[in-house]
Amino acid sequence: MKKVYATRKIENIEYWRDYAKENNLFDLCWNEREENLSQAELYSVAKGNDALITMLCDNIDADFLKENNHLLAISNYAVGHNNLDKKAAQTYSIPLGNTPDVLTHATAECALTLLLMLSRRTQEAIANVKEGQWKTWEPLQFNGFDLRERTIGIIGDGRIGQAFAKMAENLWQAKVLYYPYKDRGASEEQFFGECDVISLHCPLNEKSEGLIDSHFIDRMEKPFYFINTARGACHKEDDLLDGLRKGKILGIGLDVTDPEPMQANSPLLKEESTVILPHIGSATKKTRQEMTKLCMKNIEAALTNKSMPHSI
Ligand code: DGY
Repeated sequence: MKKVYATRKIENIEYWRDYAKENNLFDLCWNEREENLSQAELYSVAKGNDALITMLCDNIDADFLKENNHLLAISNYAVGHNNLDKKAAQTYSIPLGNTPDVLTHATAECALTLLLMLSRRTQEAIANVKEGQWKTWEPLQFNGFDLRERTIGIIGDGRIGQAFAKMAENLWQAKVLYYPYKDRGASEEQFFGECDVISLHCPLNEKSEGLIDSHFIDRMEKPFYFINTARGACHKEDDLLDGLRKGKILGIGLDVTDPEPMQANSPLLKEESTVILPHIGSATKKTRQEMTKLCMKNIEAALTNKSMPHSI
């Protein structure tokens, strides 16, 4: 029987191990430790297996794929796939899969959470209560930013960007402008001139890497909230901090950082107007269970010489 290895324990994996065994599909094993495999361990498990379920923090680069070109399938436990070398996988005819759609709502909801936490200053307010500072009802304290009818700039108009746009339109009658603005009827002047919020939903690639830098921030005419639930390498953290300190940025909400994990001494963590989450965009039980199912279906298809339902 073919052998499949998941580099971390994922939701419902025991169920899928039993399912695969009962249906004579494959033997499924996984890393039981609550930490990632080292690169050496990754090479070693790949040697003894036919297919892998990888995490977004596993570095599946050209060297790895060359050395492990016996692999029959790799399914990433994520929609993003910047950790996989697609070209090398093609060279060695290794099918790659991912987990789109099922995490769209959860990730858009995470962007929404970040924006609400910033605009209503919830972190500061919670700290105030916890620290015993709440004396009375205050007319002037923690007054936030009204999101109603604001303009939201969305970078990346795929499934997640569109889901977030719909949430903003329904909740606050937001006006949504997309970037790149060309095909969407919004001009460059409009995008940089009107947006109150910029939310990133694009894949990490050569176009988006470092996109939100001091040049981008300087072009924004109004102070804005910056939200990133896509990939940390799309923004430059020093430039964000500088923009915040200069008042160009009203608040920074990050579910993804560069590097990950964010260093505990990052100056962004000391600022009041930042909310940093540990990459939990897709982290609901149901979403993660669905992601497991998609990975299993991808692997099952590849191991029976069919195309993956969600191939990259
Ligand atoms: C993804 O899927 O790419 C998210 O970043 C993690 O679920």
